Parts: sequence; structure tokens; C-alpha cells
Amino acid sequence: MKYIINGGKKLFGKVKIDSAKNAILPVIAATIMCDEECVIKDIPLYLDVVEMCAILEKLGKKVEVKENNLIISGAISSTSVIMAETKTLRSSIFMMGSILSNYRKAIFTYPGGCDIGKRPIDIHLAGLKSLGVKFSFANDLIYCDANKISGNTIELSFPSVGATENIMMASTLIENGITVIKNCAREPEIVDLANFINSMGGKVFGAGYETIVVFGVKKLHGTEYRCISDRISTGTYLLAGAICLGRIEVCNVNPNFLLPLIVFLRNSGCNIELFSDKIILENFSRPKSIEKIETGIYPGFPTDMQSLILVLQTISKGTSIIHETVFESRFRVVSELAKMGAKINISERYATVVGVSKLKPAIVTCPDLRGGAGLVLAGLSAKGKTEVGEIFHIERGYYKFDENLRNLGANIERIK
Ligand code: EPZ
Repeated sequence: MKYIINGGKKLFGKVKIDSAKNAILPVIAATIMCDEECVIKDIPLYLDVVEMCAILEKLGKKVEVKENNLIISGAISSTSVIMAETKTLRSSIFMMGSILSNYRKAIFTYPGGCDIGKRPIDIHLAGLKSLGVKFSFANDLIYCDANKISGNTIELSFPSVGATENIMMASTLIENGITVIKNCAREPEIVDLANFINSMGGKVFGAGYETIVVFGVKKLHGTEYRCISDRISTGTYLLAGAICLGRIEVCNVNPNFLLPLIVFLRNSGCNIELFSDKIILENFSRPKSIEKIETGIYPGFPTDMQSLILVLQTISKGTSIIHETVFESRFRVVSELAKMGAKINISERYATVVGVSKLKPAIVTCPDLRGGAGLVLAGLSAKGKTEVGEIFHIERGYYKFDENLRNLGANIERIK
């Protein structure tokens, strides 16, 4: 599949933002801790969500989508997570914590995910080991034994999002166990997972701060839940407006989750109005370059928006230096942007961007999820026909992306 874009048009209109991919995925994993019915409402069918549900079904859970809601129930009949889907899906590793919490044993393959770095799981395993989980390794499989799992105090060597979520889930059903997770990730999706677990009767406190405390319980009950909206999708549509010029209104959002981007967009010359659940961006002139952009852990500027703000810099007035501090190879989109006339020089984790007034249309290929979304924004801004290939990367984390962009006036078609 690919997108054919006829770029150079300004964008005007509204986009309603769906629930966040990176909130839904750990929530789906957490349903393994409860056999009763869990309903996750208003579910956007990102490819990653479909894959995660396929893994759940292969493990024995009952999974159905009814009127836009995801309904998951029943127990799993297997604790071996070694199917093909785990090779593409980073979030499959989140199931380690939830399976060990409820079933005390598991077999896993190493997870896949976007090719933006080595993606190790040492912090996950170290944290679970501190809870008493025993690991053995053979034939590229991880054998986990949690029969002696117990609460403990854990200090993460790095505030890993996935490791925080995995350890939070692993400690949820350690009856009478108290687990303290220090130096943990503080992303809004972590808070959402804690809220989901607590809606099932769990006792997770401190999510969103650097220390989380989990009081283990014996059992969880079913629940109905709606996840927070996707802050990265929100940023993507706002950046589309900044790059292509026009007026964009994004609804069903929490501006508090995007403050670093909002400051950057204002400094670029965009006019931004904030409301409790929507953001309006207007931009009718070539943006000014942002001299220094550094990604960081939350609440810093999110690494997932780095490829997208990079595209804004390629057409801005001036020079920008972007420092990617979280992943070691998240500039793979640069070679594709160069085909469109972007002037970007990479040195280790730094990208120096000299803005050009216009990008040129070209035939490009998505390297990963956020790089792919960036190429679409670049194509929308370049006058003429751009072709973006391997769009499955994009559809892992954007739902009805081309439809939403067409509603904003973009000329974009999805073809085989
Ligand atoms: C989550 O990935 C997100 N994915 C990523 O979003 C996001 O970029 C990332 O958090 C950072 O915010 C999901 O939530 C499904 P990390 P995760 O563990 O958990 C290193 C997207 O575009 N690390 O916080 O894998 C790791 O290599 C995706 O939606 C270890 O060294 O991120 C990286 O350099 C991409 N050992 C850094 O920490 C470990 O055991 C951050 O990784 C774990 C991580």
C-alpha cells in the first residue's frame, strides 16, 4: 500500500483525536490479569491494536469489537507468547508483567517494534528479577518463573516507559506485596494504565511522578474504560497545519500533554489558541527555524514527535539543531527527506537542518512509524505528486490518517 499525495495545498478544518495507541496497548496487556469482561470504549483499530488482539486471542482470550468498543474476556489457556506477531510488536513484551502477575510462568520471544534502535529489554528483566522472577534463556526464548514473586523496591536505571508498565503490572496481583518503583517513566500513558488497573480493583499509586507504589491485591474484576487521546497524533495534525499553512482545530485533546510542542510552534510563528479539550493552530507564513530542539523523557519534548518537527524545520527560515537523546537511530527518515530537497546533516545523535523555502515532490519509502508520518507531511507541503510507500508503518499508529487529512483539504489517496 502507498499514499499518492498532490501537495502544495493549505489545510483547513477539524480533526477529532482518537484514543492513544501507547495507552491502549498496555491496557490490552493488562486485561490478561482479569478473567471477567473488560470493555475498552471507542477503540481506534491501529494495526498495532489489531496485532495485540491477535496475540490475546492466540493465548485463549475472547476478543471482539462491538460498536467501536473492544470487549475482552476469559482466561488465557497458554502462557507462551511466541507467535509471529511478537516479532513486529514492541508492546507484546508488556504481556510479560501481566501474565506473570496472574499465571506466575511464561515463555517469550524477544519483542520487535520500530527500527529506531536496539530496543533492549534489560531494564524490564532487571526489574522483574528484583520481584523474584527467575529467567532462563535458550533458542532465542525467555523462560520466566514467577512462583516466588514478591513485592520489592526497584530503582530503574533509566525511566523506561515499557519497563515501568511491565513492572507495574507484574506487581499488581502480588497479594499483600508492596512494590516501590523508583525513577519510573511519567508519561500520561503510564497514568492511564494505572487508572485502568485501579478501575479493575488494583491499587497503583503515584503514576505520573518519579515513584510509583503498588499494593498487590488478590483478584481484579471486569471494567469499562476509555483511554486518553493520542498526544502524538495531536502533534502530527498541528504540525501538518504549521508546515502546509492554514487553520487546524484538533478536538478531544489535553493541551497539558503537549506543552513543549506548543511552545515550539508559537516560537515558529504559529498562532495557537488553547482550550480545555481542543487546540486551534493558525499559520499563514513560512515558519521560523527553532534553533535547538532536544528530545527527552516526559515531560520533555517527546521523541515520537522528533521526525515530525524535523520536517517543519526543513522548510523553516534559518537553521535548527535537533538532538535525539532517547533512541540511538531515529534519523532514518533523513535520507528520504533528502530526496525531496531537504538540507539535513547528521552527526551521531544530532541533525543540523538548514531550512529551504520549498520541498520537491518525490517517490519515498517509510522507514518507521513516525518517520513515515513525517514523509506524508513533507509530501503535503511539496507542490506536485509525492508517492509514500510501505505505509503499513504509518497505519500501525495512525487511524484513518488519509481520511482525516482529506477532511482538512489534503489531496491524498491510499492505493495498492
Ligand atoms: C515506548 O516505547 C513507546 N511505545 C514508544 O513509542 C516511545 O518512543 C517510547 O516509549 C519512549 O517514549 C509504546 O508505548 C508501545 P522505552 P518503549 O523503554 O517502552 C532504552 C511510537 O512511535 N531501553 O522508554 O520501548 C531504549 O532502547 C513508539 O509510538 C533500554 O535500554 O521505550 C530507548 O533508548 C516508538 N532497556 C530508551 O530506553 C530497556 O529494557 C527508551 O525506551 C528498555 C528501554
